[in-house]
Amino acid sequence: MERHIQIFLNKLSLAAITIATLTLLLLYLQTPETCVDQSDPNPKPHTRFPRSTCDFTHRSYISLDKRNRRIWSTNAWVRAVSSYTSLFKTLQGQNHISNHSRVLIVSAGPGHAVMALNDLGVSDVTGVELVDSPPLVSRADPHNLPFFDGVFDFGFSGYLDRALFRGRYVGEMERTVRSGGVCVVAVEECGTREVEDVVKLFKRSKFVNAKNVTLAGEMMTRIVMRLTNHP
Ligand SMILES: *[C@@H]1O[C@H](CO)[C@@H](O)[C@H](O)[C@H]1NC(C)=O
Ligand SMILES: *[C@@H]1O[C@H](CO)[C@@H](O)[C@H](O)[C@H]1NC(C)=O
Repeated sequence: MERHIQIFLNKLSLAAITIATLTLLLLYLQTPETCVDQSDPNPKPHTRFPRSTCDFTHRSYISLDKRNRRIWSTNAWVRAVSSYTSLFKTLQGQNHISNHSRVLIVSAGPGHAVMALNDLGVSDVTGVELVDSPPLVSRADPHNLPFFDGVFDFGFSGYLDRALFRGRYVGEMERTVRSGGVCVVAVEECGTREVEDVVKLFKRSKFVNAKNVTLAGEMMTRIVMRLTNHP
């Protein structure tokens, strides 16, 4: 190869290397603005479509918040929560629940009972259901609760009627509530005979009382049981 062509090619590759290096450096120093948008004057993240794959702002969380606010302000929700509030107020009056009680709500649905207790000042409330409803209710199988024995002071379920295996369901409530604690179940309104059938499902508790109540618009019978001993 002729010498001056060789020199020209060398200069060309040097220039190419320099340009490539500068470009890389520039890309490294300058974060793409689609990733970070700290100075949005009017942020409406829920209306925004992700502008790139690196757009990782918490849209889903904010829309969940918004969805919850909408659900929690409906009349149906407010009425249901207030029926649980009066139920739990009565139980507070009978000293079955205090502000410091650790409470378990089994089959908590969308979380009416959890919210009612929180509003009454009971802060340590765990709601579980087959389908979760954050932030009030977590997902767990009532027949196989993911909690240690005796960690709760008070257990409640308004849906024992719908349980697949009522014995197992009640057994799990009794296992996770401490001895001396209280389990309350609300079942479809019933008389003494049926109440006795429900009471028989409890192997480690003593019957305290039963009363007809209206819960979330339904006529129900509320049965209070007190845990005796943990084997
Ligand atoms: C329980 O908490 C509620 C709300 O914070 C409060 O109004 C109430 O006085 C508390 N009750 C007791 C017995 O401390
Ligand atoms: C609930 O009401 C039904 C129908 O009025 C009645 O038969 C039953 O005895 C009541 N149960 C309790 C626990 O008061």
